[in-house]
Amino acid sequence: MKSIWSETCDIPQREPLRGDTETEIAVIGAGMAGVLIASALQRAGRQVAVFEAKRIASGQTRNTTAKITAQHGLFAERLIKTLGEERAKKYAEANLAAIEAYRKLIAEENIDCDFSNESAFVYGDDESLLENEAKAQAAMGLATYLVSNPDVPGGAKAAVRADGQAQFHPLKFLKAISEPLTIYENTPVISVDGGELQTGGGRVRAEKVVFACHYPFINFPGMYFARIHQERSYVLALENASIPGGMWIGAGDGGYSFRKYGDLVLFGGEGHRTGENSGGGKYDVMRKRASEFFPNSRVRTYWSAQDCVTADGVPYIGLYSDITPNWYVATGFQKWGMTTSMASAMILRDMICERENPYADAFDPGRFDLKTVAGTVSESAQAVKGLTRTLLKIPKEKADELPRGHGGVVFLNGEKVGAYKDESGEVHAVSVKCPHLGCQLEWNPDEKTWDCPCHGSRFDAYGELISGPAQENLDRE
Ligand code: FES
Repeated sequence: MKSIWSETCDIPQREPLRGDTETEIAVIGAGMAGVLIASALQRAGRQVAVFEAKRIASGQTRNTTAKITAQHGLFAERLIKTLGEERAKKYAEANLAAIEAYRKLIAEENIDCDFSNESAFVYGDDESLLENEAKAQAAMGLATYLVSNPDVPGGAKAAVRADGQAQFHPLKFLKAISEPLTIYENTPVISVDGGELQTGGGRVRAEKVVFACHYPFINFPGMYFARIHQERSYVLALENASIPGGMWIGAGDGGYSFRKYGDLVLFGGEGHRTGENSGGGKYDVMRKRASEFFPNSRVRTYWSAQDCVTADGVPYIGLYSDITPNWYVATGFQKWGMTTSMASAMILRDMICERENPYADAFDPGRFDLKTVAGTVSESAQAVKGLTRTLLKIPKEKADELPRGHGGVVFLNGEKVGAYKDESGEVHAVSVKCPHLGCQLEWNPDEKTWDCPCHGSRFDAYGELISGPAQENLDRE
């Protein structure tokens, strides 16, 4: 299904690259981050070209809930503990500055993108936890206070309210902001060697390269695969439902998210690590919860989102690695990609233009503290689990036993493969070895996709790449 943003906005198609070209700055990825980074650099007088594997905003930007907020769930106490008060404050200030930058840009350019000022809420039943969180958010510079018994679907004992946040229609905004940029669509970047990019349409020479493609796909240097994992979550757009306004998210794991768009309520939740949904049923759970919260509601459309999560919960924005002085990266936005895309644009513009940026060191991808090490160890352990599954897991089903419309890891002609039986009964078999680093893929029955439990690459039922870090389709068997 299409997201509500895709249903209500088309962005005109751009031509792919045909032949070799040169540019001062090559940006890889035309999602919100790539377009905002390119736009900020172009406004600063730099020559920029954007290379997009599919279409503008074809990745996570069209699947967001499009909250522009510096309140990132239950985050402030944790960040103060892990980053220290000074860096945690910079994190919050960068996000607050990003909200203001959206306001200014939308007003100056008169962009019609359903922008509205809103309050953000994180709600739950643990009042003392939320009270401490409210204090920590206020210490970080947010206009926050505790409210009791907020009027949120399902009820809650308390919520931390942060005023001065916002929401919008991400594609309407992106359509306007991308208009003056040079963007090549359907131009996947296959490899990068210094300032030379090999794309599907030709070679590109660039002085500087920005990786804004959701998940950085160059494994070495950088080793982002060892310090990022991906998570999926699900959204229903509900008719005949209502909430009091504002943008809501439950405290801790398993909390639900709400915001309005026009007459609709966007209801999100049921998140899990990518590659760990072999039981399926996430949309069924969401529908059931929606019918409890809003008994007369109807689902207008539904979709899912995928987020990159870093080892310490802070995005990586800055130099790609110590040994690549002309490569930059923006990734690991978790659920807050609209705000941190703008923060990335401001930080990378300043770095590339050799200006001071007050927030850059809080997001430095080269940070390597104890918390990051712990997260990296846990990411590596998860990857080892995925790799050993390749060796140990015995397929349960045979291809001819699969029901129509289902998939699974099976034996076919004596070999272990991924099989999808389509509605006509034809079996489509693919390799279940992820082309990124070799982990065994899992069948995701809710979305009929092959998902990687190690770093989150996804492929459709026929093996075509949906999202990386893998760069290739699956082999057909
Ligand atoms: Fe890394 Fe699959 S995404 S091994």
